[in-house]
Amino acid sequence: MLMTTGFTLWFTGLSGAGKTTLATLVERELRARGRKVEVLDGDVVRTHLSKGLGFSREDRDTNIRRIGWVCEVLTRNDVVAIAAAISPFRAVRDEVRERIGRFVEVFVDVPLETAIARDVKGLYKKALAGEIPQFTGVSDPYEPPLDPEVTIRSAEERPEQSVARILAALEALGYLEPARARAAD
Ligand code: ADX
Repeated sequence: MLMTTGFTLWFTGLSGAGKTTLATLVERELRARGRKVEVLDGDVVRTHLSKGLGFSREDRDTNIRRIGWVCEVLTRNDVVAIAAAISPFRAVRDEVRERIGRFVEVFVDVPLETAIARDVKGLYKKALAGEIPQFTGVSDPYEPPLDPEVTIRSAEERPEQSVARILAALEALGYLEPARARAAD
């Protein structure tokens, strides 16, 4: 059967919500199913493609448009593009969604207190001390998606459960063939 197989899986959420963890786990599972996958992680992209950009709204929007452009190119070449960036502004997320078309938004929803308690990179401590200006959730806005395809409450379930729900959503949306039933193996 001939079918278009590329799509973009876009993770959005606060720093420390678990976007990178989930993106990596989903990447592994999709590769195991024989798909070509590329992950565009905000922290990584900012070391090359978006090097020099800061955290003003304008720079964040530029960062998201660049990530979105790469996702668009990958998607139309039958690759699964996975983006993991805070992408705090709804308008530019929706702009990217429109451009790409085959777009699945995953809102990694975590209470700010949980992200602060995790503080994986020690940045919330600094942001709360006023040492990092315009820090998302602390001194800069985060606009949650209004109608994401998937919402993950990462404080309430294990990453493996979240991944299973994301894969189930991709199957239900027709982006992914259902995995063969394990019992039949
Ligand atoms: S986005 O807003 O443009 O989507 P992106 O996901 O690329 O952000 O980068 C976020 C990462 O940059 C955070 O995980 C954190 O490590 C770091 N960072 C540094 N300064 C800030 C800031 N002011 N706000 C948010 N994240 C920041």
